[in-house]
Amino acid sequence: MSSEPAEGLRPVLAGMKALVTGIANEHSIAYGCAKAFRELGADLAITYASEKAKPYVEPLASELGAELLLPLDVGDAAQLQSVFGQIGQRWGRLDILLHSIAWAPKDDLHGGLLHCSSEGFARAMDISCHSFVRMAALAAPLMDQGGTLLTMSYYGANKVVPNYSVMGPVKAALEACTRYLAYELGPKGIRVHAISPGPLKTRAASGLKDFDLLLNEAVERAPLGELVDIMDVGYTCAFLATPYARRVSGETLYVDGGVNIMA
Ligand SMILES: NC(=O)c1ccc[n+]([C@@H]2O[C@H](COP(=O)([O-])OP(=O)(O)OC[C@H]3O[C@@H](n4cnc5c(N)ncnc54)[C@H](O)[C@@H]3O)[C@@H](O)[C@H]2O)c1
Repeated sequence: MSSEPAEGLRPVLAGMKALVTGIANEHSIAYGCAKAFRELGADLAITYASEKAKPYVEPLASELGAELLLPLDVGDAAQLQSVFGQIGQRWGRLDILLHSIAWAPKDDLHGGLLHCSSEGFARAMDISCHSFVRMAALAAPLMDQGGTLLTMSYYGANKVVPNYSVMGPVKAALEACTRYLAYELGPKGIRVHAISPGPLKTRAASGLKDFDLLLNEAVERAPLGELVDIMDVGYTCAFLATPYARRVSGETLYVDGGVNIMA
């Protein structure tokens, strides 16, 4: 793939190095983000969560001309170290990190928060939230010219969304981590953002009970009258990584057609 931006777009991320985690398939939010970064000129490193996932991610990585394709299960500390080690070797630096990862044990997710086990709660928190903190710690030394860290939250962090269950408190913690990381990394010129997309039909979303109801409700309530797609999220992330957003940090930015402003 050429490094030319899509027609009409200026290559505002040209020369930037971006690590994208969380692509499972072409419906993944992270794929929309990788595509937007690439269209705007960034070079990509892409990870896949397991050998089972690799055949789905590999063609997307090659379509986007990714320079690195690496295995990463965030529960595996050695793999996480290795990803950042290889980025250091290849690029010597990193400008953009996208964390687009969430997971909770099915029984704990479906049983409601009241019945979520202590172990399930801890695992959901570790994979979906603390992994962002671990990544930030490894990314920061590679961002000595500053950089942008991005993670994916959801409306259920702040308001009760039936069936979102344990993921509500987990996303609330993720948004709080975003603020504290923004505070601690601000002096290094590293900006940290949480994005809160409206509901999107992805593999992760298919694990939520009655997800179609959420989609219908989102269309009905959105001032803009439409569901968001993965490129809407991708372009917002790309914008946050540009110098045009250079004084924005620690926020949770909704990309939901305006649903969150409604009573
Ligand atoms: N789909 C939605 O409606 C929606 C809305 C708001 C926020 N989000 C958030 O967006 C993010 C991406 O989800 P998505 O909807 O694109 O679904 P997705 O299933 O495409 O992506 C989830 C990703 O998490 C990865 N993952 C899970 N456990 C992992 C582990 N141990 N190590 C490494 N990777 C692991 C999966 O491999 C997958 O790539 C998640 O944080 C999700 O909570 C989704």
